[in-house]
Amino acid sequence: MIGADEPPERGDGDEAPERLQKVLARSGVGSRRACEELIAAGRVKVNGEIAGLGRRVDPARDEIELDGALIAVAQGLAHYLLNKPAGVVTTASDPERRPTVVELVPPTPRVFPVGRLDVDTEGLLILTNDGPLAHRLTHPSFGIEKEYLAEVSGSPRPAALRSLRHGVALDDGPTAPARVSLLAPSLLRITIHEGRNRQVRRMCEAVGHPVVRLVRTRIGPITDRRLPPGQWRSLTPGEVRSLAEAAAGDADAGAPRARGSVLARRSRVPDPPDTP
Ligand code: URA
Repeated sequence: MIGADEPPERGDGDEAPERLQKVLARSGVGSRRACEELIAAGRVKVNGEIAGLGRRVDPARDEIELDGALIAVAQGLAHYLLNKPAGVVTTASDPERRPTVVELVPPTPRVFPVGRLDVDTEGLLILTNDGPLAHRLTHPSFGIEKEYLAEVSGSPRPAALRSLRHGVALDDGPTAPARVSLLAPSLLRITIHEGRNRQVRRMCEAVGHPVVRLVRTRIGPITDRRLPPGQWRSLTPGEVRSLAEAAAGDADAGAPRARGSVLARRSRVPDPPDTP
């Protein structure tokens, strides 16, 4: 029987297995009713085209976007957040047989790290089998923010902080402007949106303050101060969606927001004054 919540099925994809609102709701976008409203408002696209109510989709094949952000809908997708300890390599297998990040998360489904942390860098790393999302998170054009705490040798003076903020000349070109705060005499919080090899270490070295310890504390909207080193957890559907939104390429992408409030507006927090 077709009730008020179950509009008649019609249009493209009639043979596809699942109703669009059901797939969206399962991925954490909202209730089925809320998802129907999003579809009716023309905010949902399937394979690049605005979807109508009654649209059916194949979560394994169709690319679904809400407000331009890709939604992770395929069943069997895993998105893990790992707090990587020092001494673990960001690769699936290491010829030197050092411990790897994939050994710290469940073996199935097989996941791969999104981007890379140096062997000595600690902190947050996403591992997933969600190829399209991983691509967006690592592609420079999407510019996802990454925030680091860097303990450095010496105490950076204002001129060094200015250089870090405006851009540092590295051998592979100048760095883009970064947000940099001095939290203590030898402790910097550095936010960058590039993903160049050993970038934070090279930036700090270039201004005369080599890194002693480096910890990644945020990836786009994802933070977690309670996840112990060496431990992982699954990202919530809301977090996956907020990541996809951050990687959708809007001008405000990647700033933090409250966990769980996926529809909340994002805000940028300005650098605090440099008063350790
Ligand atoms: N910058 C670095 O220097 N190292 C990392 O692991 C990540 C960013």
